[in-house]
Amino acid sequence: MTERIVLAYSGGLDTSVAIGWIGEATGAEVIAVAVDVGQGGESLETIRQRALGCGAVEAYVADASDEFANEYCMPTLKANALYQGHYPLVSAISRPVIVKHLVKAAREFGATTVAHGCTGKGNDQVRFEVGIQTLGPDLKCIAPVRDLALTRDKAIAFAEEKGLPIETTKKNPYSIDQNVWGRAVETGYLEDIWNAPTKDIYDYTATPEFPPAPDEVTISFEAGVPVAIDGVRVTPLQAIKELNRRAGAQGVGRIDVVEDRLVGIKSREIYEAPGAMALITAHKHLEDITIEREQARFKASVGQRWAELVYDGQWFSPLKRSLDAFIEDTQQYVSGDIRMVLHGGQAIVNGRRSETSLYDFDLATYDTGDTFDQSMARGFIELWGMSAKVASGRDIRVAGQ
Ligand code: ARG
Repeated sequence: MTERIVLAYSGGLDTSVAIGWIGEATGAEVIAVAVDVGQGGESLETIRQRALGCGAVEAYVADASDEFANEYCMPTLKANALYQGHYPLVSAISRPVIVKHLVKAAREFGATTVAHGCTGKGNDQVRFEVGIQTLGPDLKCIAPVRDLALTRDKAIAFAEEKGLPIETTKKNPYSIDQNVWGRAVETGYLEDIWNAPTKDIYDYTATPEFPPAPDEVTISFEAGVPVAIDGVRVTPLQAIKELNRRAGAQGVGRIDVVEDRLVGIKSREIYEAPGAMALITAHKHLEDITIEREQARFKASVGQRWAELVYDGQWFSPLKRSLDAFIEDTQQYVSGDIRMVLHGGQAIVNGRRSETSLYDFDLATYDTGDTFDQSMARGFIELWGMSAKVASGRDIRVAGQ
C-alpha cells in the first residue's frame, strides 16, 4: 500500500507546493489538513479545493475555532501569559491544537507521517514535532522546507511549472501567522531592528494616532473566563472576536519586540493582539481584587513559567499540566465585572466590582467607618524588621572590631 502523509495545510504557496513536492520526493500520498483557529481570510472550502487542485488525495478541514478559544486561549488568559513580559503566545498556543487534529487525521486516513511547512530556524517546528511525538509517538515527522530543500524560489518555479492553482506573483515580504488570539509578522524589512514597522504591516489594529472616540466596555468574568460583554452573554470565542473588533479599532494590542527563540536566535516580531491584550488586562485587574496576596504573588511567577513552557513547545508536558492545576485552583473566585476604556492604543481599567472581592472598604477607608486598628501596626513593624535589625547589629559589631 502507498504510504500516506498528513500535511498541515495553510492554503499558502509553501504548503500548496509541498503537496506535490513531498509526493515527488517520497512517493507518498498527501492528505492536506487545514485547521480553523479563527484565522479569518479565505473560506476553508476554498482552501480545501486548492489542496485537491494541488494534488492532495484528500483534503480535510477541522473547525477548531471554539475548541481553540475554550481550551487554548482561556488557559492563556487565566495564566495572564506573556512570554518575556510582552508576547501573548499567539502562534505557540495554536500549534498544539493543530497537532491534535493532525494526529486525528493521521489515524483516520491511515498515515504514517505528519508534515508541516516550518523552517529549521524557528520555534514552530519544535512545537509541531514535540506535540506529535507526544500524541502520536509512532508517527514520523517531515518538514519539506527544512528536510527536502523546498526554498521559496523553488516553490515558485514548481508552482509555475505544474500550473498549480495558486498565486505566485503576490509579493509579500513578511512571514505572517494569525489566529483569533492575534497575529504575528516577521522577516523582510523588519529584520533591521531599527526599522519602524510601516502601517501596511497591521491588519487587526487601526493606527492609534487617529483613534475614534473612546470606547468604554464592561467585561464580566466567571471563574477567570469572560462570559459577558456589556451585559450580553458571550462564549470565549465571541468575547475574543468582539474585543478584537473594539480594541482593534482603538489600536490596542500592538507589540514590537525582539524575543528569544528556543533555538538560540533573537528575532524581531510585530504582534497584534487587541482582544487578547484587552482580556488579559481586564482579567489581571479582576485577579487583583479577588486573589489573596500570597497566592497572587506566587501565581505571577507560575504564569511566567507557564508562558516559557508553552513558548518552548511543552504544551503537553507534565510540568505544564501541573501548573495548569495550580492556575485553575486560583480562578475559583475570579468572577465579577471590569470596566475599561479603550482609546489611543491603550486599554485602561477604571472600575471593578465582584461578589467575591477581597477589597474591604471598611479596612481601606481613611474616612469614618474605618475598622482597621492602627495601633496594631507598631508591633507588627517591630517584628517584621527584627531579623534584618539583628543582622545589621552583627555587621556593625564585626566591622567595628
Ligand atoms: N515568534 C513567534 C513564536 O515563536 C511567532 C512565530 C510565528 N510565525 C510567523 N511566521 N510570524 O511564537
